Amino acid sequence: MLNRVGGQADMKPPQMKRPRNDGNSSSNQTHGYEHSSGTLLKPPPQPPQNLPGSQLPGTRVEKPHDQNMSSHFPKTKEEGPLPAKRSKITPQLLNYIDNFKYPYISDVSCYEKLLKIGQGTFGEVFKARCKKTGRYVALKKILMENEKEGFPITALREVKMLQKLKYENITELIEICSSKQTSSRDRCTFYLVFAFYEHDLAGLLSNPNVLLKLNEIKTLMKHLLNGLYKIHSSNILHRDMKAANILISKEGVLKLGDFGLARPLFKKLPGKMEPCYTNRVVTLWYRPPELLLGARNYGPGIDMWGAGCIMAELWTRSPILQ
Ligand SMILES: Nc1ncnc2c1ncn2[C@@H]1O[C@H](COP(=O)(O)OP(=O)(O)O)[C@@H](O)[C@H]1O
Ligand SMILES: [Mg+2]
Repeated sequence: MLNRVGGQADMKPPQMKRPRNDGNSSSNQTHGYEHSSGTLLKPPPQPPQNLPGSQLPGTRVEKPHDQNMSSHFPKTKEEGPLPAKRSKITPQLLNYIDNFKYPYISDVSCYEKLLKIGQGTFGEVFKARCKKTGRYVALKKILMENEKEGFPITALREVKMLQKLKYENITELIEICSSKQTSSRDRCTFYLVFAFYEHDLAGLLSNPNVLLKLNEIKTLMKHLLNGLYKIHSSNILHRDMKAANILISKEGVLKLGDFGLARPLFKKLPGKMEPCYTNRVVTLWYRPPELLLGARNYGPGIDMWGAGCIMAELWTRSPILQ
């Protein structure tokens, strides 16, 4: 089998963290009493200790102004003090989660893992065979270790994009499957199940025995541009164009893969602010000048730059902007 180069020089942005809801933090209160000259005014009297929730962290302590205002309005549920205790994770709840059967998600044991074919930024990729049909697939494991907030947003995006992009020159997502945890400390693992493609372009180009004729290069570029046209006309940006993310089937059909960084384009509405995307996308060697200069309002052109770099690479056999 040809040498595979997966996840080469991957540059993916760090996971976005939701801002902490610290609107009731003590720093906020201090600000409320700070004089414009910088000196602190005398703090207002603290609520008596025996009021419900007065010692609990996160309890809403209203400023004197708020107290006056709130007396005019009936109290809503959100305005009251936070509940003293959050519902506990009980053994019954854990047991329920352990035995929960996700609808429409089959178990990974339906597939026989054969070998590891790629190590990307967000997980490993395995070649596997479906036990029922004998079909070869690629299982892309979704890393859940650092996910305190559940299913990773990058994987969720990848699934959503791929469901929308069913096309000959785009990798086919067959299904999602899960594996049960082996011990109580493990968490459930999810896999994206893709159709298996024999080669990736980075692997092919690094193999000196593989010689590409002009007509083959033209065909590959036609497939690549067809795939990109489908992506862009569906209002999606790929944002990680590079040879390692381009797969080629044994029939010689090119498939654009790795939608881990893809995202839908914002709709431009008259009178609305210009769209603003994260700047830390696209592997460095394939990154266009506007991104290097810090642009955040970019469009399909960033993928077209990558397509140009890949076209040149079909002759030079290594990334041209290393
Ligand atoms: N459907 C597939 N068939 C064969 N190999 C694949 C497939 N999907 C991925 N790979 C291999 O795994 C590598 C990493 O997969 P990729 O989807 O790019 O993940 P990452 O986001 O971790 O970079 C690819 O470069 C390729 O070599
Ligand atoms: Mg990749």
